[in-house]
Amino acid sequence: PKVFYTQPDGRQDVIEAAAGDSVMQTAVRNGVSGIVGQCGGSLSCATCHVFLAEENADDFAPVGDDEDEMLDCAATERQDNSRLSCQLILRDGQEVHVTVPEAQL
Ligand code: FES
Repeated sequence: PKVFYTQPDGRQDVIEAAAGDSVMQTAVRNGVSGIVGQCGGSLSCATCHVFLAEENADDFAPVGDDEDEMLDCAATERQDNSRLSCQLILRDGQEVHVTVPEAQL
């Protein structure tokens, strides 16, 4: 899978990811700025907040209850396409576009 991370200023990182990894893990491992992943993926922070592109909306399981609650705590106000990127698990062949919010902390 491939992940396209767009920063608030328009810069983009394109990362070749491993299937089974999350969008958060992929960002942290590759030094993509703006995705913190403080809790390591256990849904107890909101520092992995991203905006998921419309075209990818159906590529992942919908927002779960715990994710929904944590999104309310995100440093940058949530939008309809907000996700916690630790919950976006990548599959072979996917091309995923996310935008990183202004702030995570
Ligand atoms: Fe903490 Fe995703 S890394 S909720």
